[in-house]
Amino acid sequence: MRNTAAMKIKAPAWATALTLLCSVALSASTATPASTPVYTEDGRLALPEGYREWVYLSSGFDMAYRAQARSGHHMFDNVFVEPSAYKAFLESGMWPDKTMLILEVRGAEDKGSINKLGHYQDTEVMGLEVHLKDASHFPEGWAFFGFDGTQPAKMIPRTADCYSCHARHAALDNTFVQFYPTLLPIATAKGTLSAAYRAKPTGGE
Ligand code: HEC
Repeated sequence: MRNTAAMKIKAPAWATALTLLCSVALSASTATPASTPVYTEDGRLALPEGYREWVYLSSGFDMAYRAQARSGHHMFDNVFVEPSAYKAFLESGMWPDKTMLILEVRGAEDKGSINKLGHYQDTEVMGLEVHLKDASHFPEGWAFFGFDGTQPAKMIPRTADCYSCHARHAALDNTFVQFYPTLLPIATAKGTLSAAYRAKPTGGE
């Protein structure tokens, strides 16, 4: 009798705990995926899952910033940022630690379906590059990773021109905010654009 009574009291507590657990699990599984960088044991970066559901910043069309760029084919690049970094940027006009931005490259098509003029994006991804800020991993703060398919990627060596061009020409903390139309007004209002960019927005040496 006493046991049954005790169990009766315990049952609702159990049920509450279970309900809580379930709702935690449910909210975790339905939340936007992968918001922090995931590294393999040998220091490679795992391709951020679900980056296509991140915040869209811009698409560049045929932007030429590499000497070996393009062999007659037109290209789009799409830039996305991890949502929690985007939210922090809206508040401060700065990138928090663990910010991840991704540049996805796709070929441009011109003739297909009803299209007669202009270009649209191909289904095939031709390149994926991640720009990541992680002070606990990189004393320099930022690092680049270039993906070949979905396998984890090695960090691009610091001698690569990625680092020098971004450091010299990007308007805000190594990122090309001058080309991201929803971010530029925020950075301008918050006064977080680099002194070099403010002095000479058209770039140059
Ligand atoms: C000569 C200059 C230059 C070089 C070199 C360069 N980039 Fe960029 N990068 C840009 C510009 C300009 C953008 C903006 C693209 C847009 O607006 O669509 C950009 C954007 C990016 C972004 C989006 C996030 C951000 O930081 O703004 C990533 C990721 C990126 N580049 C990776 C790389 C990697 C990896 C390399 C080297 C393999 C590289 N870049 C080399 C100029 C450069």
